[in-house]
Amino acid sequence: MNEPIKKIAVLTSGGDAPGMNAAIRAVVRACTYYRMDCIGIYRGYQGMIEGDFKPLAAREVSNIINKGGTILKSARSEEFKTEEGREKAYNQLVKEGIGALVVIGGDGTFTGALKFIQEFNFPVVGIPGTIDNDIYGTDRTIGYDTALNTVVEVIDKIRDTASSHNRLFFIEVMGRDAGFIALNTGIGAGAEEILIPEKDLGLDRLEESLTISREKGKSSSIVVVSEGDKIGKNVFELADHIKEKYPFYDIRVSVLGHMQRGGSPSCSDRVLASRLGVAAVEALLDRSTGVMVGITNNQVSTVGLNKAIKMNHDINKELLKVAEITSV
Ligand code: F6P
Repeated sequence: MNEPIKKIAVLTSGGDAPGMNAAIRAVVRACTYYRMDCIGIYRGYQGMIEGDFKPLAAREVSNIINKGGTILKSARSEEFKTEEGREKAYNQLVKEGIGALVVIGGDGTFTGALKFIQEFNFPVVGIPGTIDNDIYGTDRTIGYDTALNTVVEVIDKIRDTASSHNRLFFIEVMGRDAGFIALNTGIGAGAEEILIPEKDLGLDRLEESLTISREKGKSSSIVVVSEGDKIGKNVFELADHIKEKYPFYDIRVSVLGHMQRGGSPSCSDRVLASRLGVAAVEALLDRSTGVMVGITNNQVSTVGLNKAIKMNHDINKELLKVAEITSV
């Protein structure tokens, strides 16, 4: 356990996020800087089970900082959820002489990492990479800022056509059970209403708000719906309901879907990913394990993986107020 770490492996797992490549690049280059070898594991935990490894040298991660997706590919592995699967994965790491692991992903990735650490006492550090921003212990996750920019750009375009046709648009955005994308893009794109799982607006409030908008003479409206919201759970049914109640509304629905996960990462995501990639390697060199590196008040911070998974990353209440005030 106290032998110096000579080889670190890195993988991406779960939903991909723009900036994951920048994080991989930073991990690889930090390994080179600190004179260690780096191994890329393909297809997340599934590739770890199957020994799908490739040594990564500093020059092999050239020209990826600007690329969306993940060069290491990603997967959600069912086999890694079993003890046998994790044991196979452990044996592959030992066979390859890997002394520590960096995992880039979200809560599913960290849940798997925690089990792995508990069973094999293997050093693992996590980097938060998900567009959902739903991880406790970091102000932002890698990919979130890019997704916000992508969504705002698209809503701006939808607003053009909504306004030309005097239409009401329901726009569904991703976020799984978290409303960060919806709330922030809703404010940024000037939506009339924002539906998020963290705050139950209720159908009555939405109807009241649409009535008021109409009375105030708003000819077109944008409602941003987080995919995890209770009343917006099925955005098409919600739109049908509103149409039935308010037949004068010309309604359209746009589900933005996976386009939110793609694209070249924003500068902010590239810098975040670079900082966290370096921090993860340094944490392992300091003998940390079972932690996630994150950013708190613009400083690199660490938090236990158990907390990162279990505790809530709360929605900023002030943003809810701003959304309400600026949509009058
Ligand atoms: O966690 C990222 C995310 O894009 C969520 O916002 C979304 O609910 C989910 O992944 C979609 O998963 P999949 O790519 O498996 O359809």
